[in-house]
Amino acid sequence: MAKKVTLHSDTSNNLLLALQQAQRESGYLSPALMVEIARSLRLPVNAVYGVASFYSFLNMRPPGRNVIRICRSVPCYLKENRVIIETVEREIGIRPGETSADGRFSFELTNCIGLCDRAPAMLVNSDAHGDLTPSRIVQVLQSYE
Ligand code: FES
Repeated sequence: MAKKVTLHSDTSNNLLLALQQAQRESGYLSPALMVEIARSLRLPVNAVYGVASFYSFLNMRPPGRNVIRICRSVPCYLKENRVIIETVEREIGIRPGETSADGRFSFELTNCIGLCDRAPAMLVNSDAHGDLTPSRIVQVLQSYE
């Protein structure tokens, strides 16, 4: 039976900060990096993996040059975010969780990004785009190389 790991909030905060810093420096969290972080914080590797896989803003695979994050929370859902998701899938030919073969885009679904008053909304890298429509999506995607 797997041992249950409970993190204290200080350790948990340190872990999240360490993961964010590692991602900033390396682009994504490779298995080797997670082992190194586990060792430095004296945590089991599965605890590090559990936190890294929980947060959609942490990448465990090399991301595309541009990362699309479409909000899947209720206000955006009620504003037909499904149409936006389907438009992105059709335009770039990948589904959430994938990276395009040319490395141009990665595509993720995420929780609220703070643009509820402009739902449906998405981020491309750190750029916020709200009040999305299928035609607006096409314009937005064309502006990223
Ligand atoms: S619910 Fe979509 S941005 Fe807040």
